[in-house]
Amino acid sequence: MKLKITTNYNFLIIHLMKNLSKYFFIFIICTQISFSQVRVVKELDSNWKFQKGFFKNAFEVDFDDSKWESIYVPHDWAIYGPFDKEVDKQNVAIVQNGEEIASEKTGRTGALPHIGSAWYRNKFEIQKNEIGKKVILLFEGAMCEPQVFLNGKKIGEWAYGYSYFYFDVSEYIKEGENILSVQLSNKEFASRWYPGAGLYRKVSIIIKNKESINQWGTFITTPFISTTSAKVNVKTKTSGDNSRLVISIFDANGQKICSEEAATQFGNEFEQNLKVLNPQLWSPENPYLYTAVSQLYIENELKDEITTRFGIRDIKYEANKGFSLNGEVMKFKGVCLHHDLGPLGAAVNKAALRRQLTILKDMGCNAIRSSHNMPSFEQLELCDEMGFLFLAESFDEWAKPKVENGYHRFFEEYAERDVVNLVHATRNHPSIVMWSSGNEVPDQWGVEGVKRAKWLQDIFHREDPTRPVTVGMDQVKATMESGFGALLDVPGLNYRVHLYEEAYNKFPQGFILGSETASTVSSRGIYKFPVVQEKMKQYDDFQSSSYDLEACSWSNVPDEDFVLQDDKPWVIGEFVWTGFDYLGEPTPYDESWPSRSSYFGISDLAGLPKDRFYLYRSRWNKNDETLHILPHWNWEGREGEITPVFVYTNYESAELFVNGRSMGIQKKDHITPQNRYRLMWMDVKYEPGTLKVVAFDNEGKGISEKEIYTAGKPYKIVLTPDRESIKADGKDLSYITVSVVDKNGITCPTATNQLKFKVKGEGSFKAVCNGDATSLELFHLPTMKLFSGKLVVTVESTKESGIIQLEVFGKGLKSGATLINSTN
Ligand code: GAL
Repeated sequence: MKLKITTNYNFLIIHLMKNLSKYFFIFIICTQISFSQVRVVKELDSNWKFQKGFFKNAFEVDFDDSKWESIYVPHDWAIYGPFDKEVDKQNVAIVQNGEEIASEKTGRTGALPHIGSAWYRNKFEIQKNEIGKKVILLFEGAMCEPQVFLNGKKIGEWAYGYSYFYFDVSEYIKEGENILSVQLSNKEFASRWYPGAGLYRKVSIIIKNKESINQWGTFITTPFISTTSAKVNVKTKTSGDNSRLVISIFDANGQKICSEEAATQFGNEFEQNLKVLNPQLWSPENPYLYTAVSQLYIENELKDEITTRFGIRDIKYEANKGFSLNGEVMKFKGVCLHHDLGPLGAAVNKAALRRQLTILKDMGCNAIRSSHNMPSFEQLELCDEMGFLFLAESFDEWAKPKVENGYHRFFEEYAERDVVNLVHATRNHPSIVMWSSGNEVPDQWGVEGVKRAKWLQDIFHREDPTRPVTVGMDQVKATMESGFGALLDVPGLNYRVHLYEEAYNKFPQGFILGSETASTVSSRGIYKFPVVQEKMKQYDDFQSSSYDLEACSWSNVPDEDFVLQDDKPWVIGEFVWTGFDYLGEPTPYDESWPSRSSYFGISDLAGLPKDRFYLYRSRWNKNDETLHILPHWNWEGREGEITPVFVYTNYESAELFVNGRSMGIQKKDHITPQNRYRLMWMDVKYEPGTLKVVAFDNEGKGISEKEIYTAGKPYKIVLTPDRESIKADGKDLSYITVSVVDKNGITCPTATNQLKFKVKGEGSFKAVCNGDATSLELFHLPTMKLFSGKLVVTVESTKESGIIQLEVFGKGLKSGATLINSTN
């Protein structure tokens, strides 16, 4: 068996170029090649030239791009700013938010310069022996409306910025240097959030034989599972008559466990069943992955070979029982995520995604919804590996608009192709357990919308009969009347907790999914008084309170969802809006410049947990203790004033002490949703010193305790990396949380010092973010103010192994430093 080798060949390439350049004139543009004898995959990540603006002739072969910027792909041209109020200023009534009168909105799409046209040009080499082969050019996403040219000729175009798409360019390539040019155009008013801009996901060239396995031509399902065996069904579409296909399955240790050969094709499809004995089932707790190697032969010649990872798992959605995985009823403890990576923008980075999932895993989260579009391949790979259930969504608009230049412009022409590509490209990921054909589409109104819902769901079913389809519905009453909600496999309710019961009774499915929940707003480390529940509350500093009692007119605080999740067995789980803050949509401050990013996140834009993180953790993470006190205890000027204290904990009761004096015992009860999920001491008067909580077990014995203290003046900078050892691959990241402490080492929770960063050694400064939704400081410049005492610096490895040093300086502060090990 020939193993597919995926590795980093950069050093080898540099070495070869140095030594062979006397003899050969070689352009080598690929930095990552995965190859077997029969198939070459070149990721086009380097050798790109980029220029913003409109150029009539930039597709021409001899176009002079020497003065253009040299960049790497994935690339987001807008993330470097500057933030500018004018970028997305708009006089509009956001109907989805219940607005009827237009008003000036800013920051809706992040106030970053993503609008306009830009060109990317790449030179890549095709070898003599590659001519005559089948060559595929694959884009994993291009924002947006890409026009693609190869060697001066137009080879195709696409529309939706989130779609994966490819072209067969066999006819267009030539031996030697080839020139790929891509024009992208982002219209204004085309998104409800920051879309990013450019070639923000991978671009690759795949070179294979004419007789080969089709792009995304493999479909693996596991239709029968018992404790002793599993049937693995593999359907494979190929081009190549008189061929035979050998499928071999390997376990997670790389041991071959079975193999099957087929010579019979139906049309262009092979279908094989393999038996895996004593299967290890995939689940969030045990994300066990198998690998199928598919080898296409004509007579004895190997023509193609691909590797597909898959999981053996069974999913069911049943009336009154809900969702079960491998026979076990399970609720979605999920979050919605937009695709941007905060300070890195939309440019996909696997290390950044892994960090997000690591944080979510610790919270006890078990599911992700890619709102409101196709997820990156990297995110799905990680969810397979780390154990997250996945709800893969496609659209935020169908034929009716939400924004002036949204997807409705493309719906008729592209919707089917976009869904087909989504399903074909991602259907082998065990993590995906549900599709979503739309989010809060205005087509929920009217009969045409009902037909569209059916049409899209049928396409999903045709392409993948194994997974159900949902739509996130906000017009719940309308969908009850029109039949829209009844026809869906999974009725998804966005918010509207008051309608769950009625929807459950009226809809025939026998269960309800909280496809989007909460939309609570808060700013990390900011607390407002008096502590009361509020809707659309605004403050002069454009921040929201971290007592977690503020939501939007259409949304609610987390506890109200918890009640439904806990009391209604037919509620199959929830996807909280959102796991992390994202760029754009600064509700409730979309009329208040300079707000430019969201307040909805459970963690902030820097990835730092807000208090709400611990509220979800206290009920979702069943393995670890949660005992979290809020607010911080630095309230100079509030001495003697009522300063309520909340504790988020998995324990049922606890006692609070201020400077050693008991404030009484609080016990969770059912009086209000908040009393049920939080311990709250509403009458505490602030005095500086120590706040201590002692949690009790069920017998009333003290089982755990936690203290927080009033900090003195900022004295010293402290650095805490999330990873002290990273890979020397030029892409890996370490996220270093920077805070300041007083002379006694107590963290200063309100510090706002301006800091400066210096990175030395085998790494570079990548970005910095403090989570302040109103900050206009740029992410890629090595200086930023602390927000609520913290910020996060991201450093990136080079391709050389060695030590990376980050030093942080601030006026009047003892500087801090940390070392990261970067290894091959
Ligand atoms: C929902 C919508 C999301 C986001 C959220 C904010 O209605 O689906 O995209 O806008 O509201 O609360």
